[in-house]
Amino acid sequence: MATSISFAGLSCFLLSLCLVCSVKEGYAFEELRESHAESYLTHTFEVSSLFASSICNHSTKANERESTFIVVDKYGPCFQPNQQRSVVSPSLTDIIRSDRARIYSIHHSRLSKSSGRRDHIVEPNSLSIPVKDGSAFSTSNYLVTVGLGTPKKDLSLVLDTGSDLTWTQCQPCTRCYKQTEPLFDRTQSSTYVNISKTDSVCAYVQRPGTVPPGAETLCFYGIAYGDGSISLGFFSKETLTMSAAEKINSFLFGCGTDNRGEFDLEAGILGLSQESASIVFQTAAKYNKIFSYCIPSSASSTGHLTFGSQTPAPANIIYTKLVAQKSPSYGLDLIGIGLGGTKLNISESVFTTPGTIIDSGTVFTYLPPNAYPTFRDAFRAAMTAYPLTTGRPDDDLDTCYDLSKTSSVKVPEISFFFKDGKVVGMPGKSSLVTYSKTNSQVCLGFAPYEAGDDEIIIGNQVQRTMEVVYDVAGQRIGFALNGCT
Ligand SMILES: *[C@@H]1O[C@H](CO)[C@@H](O)[C@H](O)[C@H]1NC(C)=O
Ligand SMILES: *[C@@H]1O[C@H](CO)[C@@H](O)[C@H](O)[C@H]1NC(C)=O
Ligand SMILES: *[C@@H]1O[C@H](CO)[C@@H](O)[C@H](O)[C@H]1NC(C)=O
Repeated sequence: MATSISFAGLSCFLLSLCLVCSVKEGYAFEELRESHAESYLTHTFEVSSLFASSICNHSTKANERESTFIVVDKYGPCFQPNQQRSVVSPSLTDIIRSDRARIYSIHHSRLSKSSGRRDHIVEPNSLSIPVKDGSAFSTSNYLVTVGLGTPKKDLSLVLDTGSDLTWTQCQPCTRCYKQTEPLFDRTQSSTYVNISKTDSVCAYVQRPGTVPPGAETLCFYGIAYGDGSISLGFFSKETLTMSAAEKINSFLFGCGTDNRGEFDLEAGILGLSQESASIVFQTAAKYNKIFSYCIPSSASSTGHLTFGSQTPAPANIIYTKLVAQKSPSYGLDLIGIGLGGTKLNISESVFTTPGTIIDSGTVFTYLPPNAYPTFRDAFRAAMTAYPLTTGRPDDDLDTCYDLSKTSSVKVPEISFFFKDGKVVGMPGKSSLVTYSKTNSQVCLGFAPYEAGDDEIIIGNQVQRTMEVVYDVAGQRIGFALNGCT
């Protein structure tokens, strides 16, 4: 009885509402459908699966491909040298701090570029090196192991879509920081070639104001990163070997004989940006400026970095346009963010005014300060089943949960909406970053960017387990689920 009465009342209400909104019928229908409980997209998984274990679980995909490097977390058990010693992962506060330094340098390079000035000069000793446009470095926590020289020596380099030049520390070394693998010795390789400073490729790199005695006729490079780290040395050619014995001959790289700064464990950097010196452009004839990566789900699993297009293409891949943004990084035309499959009611201009970049080196995802609270509140509203932690790891990470009382967790799907109509739903686990394994605490891996750093950054944690395809020739970026396994 009660049902029929309220139904009659509702029909009456709906009828009058429809008269009012009949011109916006499609819109009204969208709202009704999307607010329906069953269409709210969620992901449920074991809490324990969020945390890294002490044993490496190798992914399969890297082994099925030819032009591939295995990607590992610098601090986890999948990075071979870590099996012989204990490494301390950086805290969430340390990560936020280095993210900020990276964002600053991405932002700064754009400012100096647009104003035509190179005013940020780092002066180590008598050598002055201008900060190279777009050189970020800080925080990139994923490594790939490449084979350099003949016979090949394994070197683990930071995977960095924000850098162009690939370099490693080289023997004989004037100044080298402590790395985990033996230093590359150019005198021991039969394929090492010096580049003359008159060679046209020398224009790919910046030369410091002063070069050491003996290097006057050679292409001596200097690169300074936004965080103050530097590498100086010989721009040279070598044979680069990928995991499956595929070789790139005459690969241009920096043989760094003076390297200082925030480096730790890694042997150098693998540059994947859209500039001439990057491996992407150097191998354009072979791989058509296409590469993809899969960031591992946790520090105890592996991912891959693959060159060239794949056949068959990754299942259900969604491509969106690669667009120019203020910084030289890889830009996307983001117009909105969604939870549970529904776009949040935030004006498109909040996203299009700052613009968006996708980055392999920034850890968290940074949203505009006028969009973040709406997003966070909606995320919290979908997560009321789990208690928020009382303390916070950092002021910027304000949505952390205590999952110690539950074995599985259900999270809303986070999706990115792009101007070309494409919608990419991210894997459920990738929205959370682990905070404390012993207390089963995790945080939403998103934060507002700071005033002045006005660019949205899709960081590496939210990209985990997806195959992210950078089709630079086709000017598009693709996303496919289950990219690592
Ligand atoms: C290793 O990874 C595979 C694929 O992701 C997964 O099915 C399996 O459960 C993992 N094994 C362990 C021991 O975590
Ligand atoms: C490269 O240049 C350095 C510095 O002048 C020199 O010591 C080395 O022998 C050269 N190597 C080759 C292979 O030409
Ligand atoms: C979306 O936000 C605007 C501005 O705050 C508001 O006027 C509008 O009613 C909202 N729309 C919905 C469907 O909530």
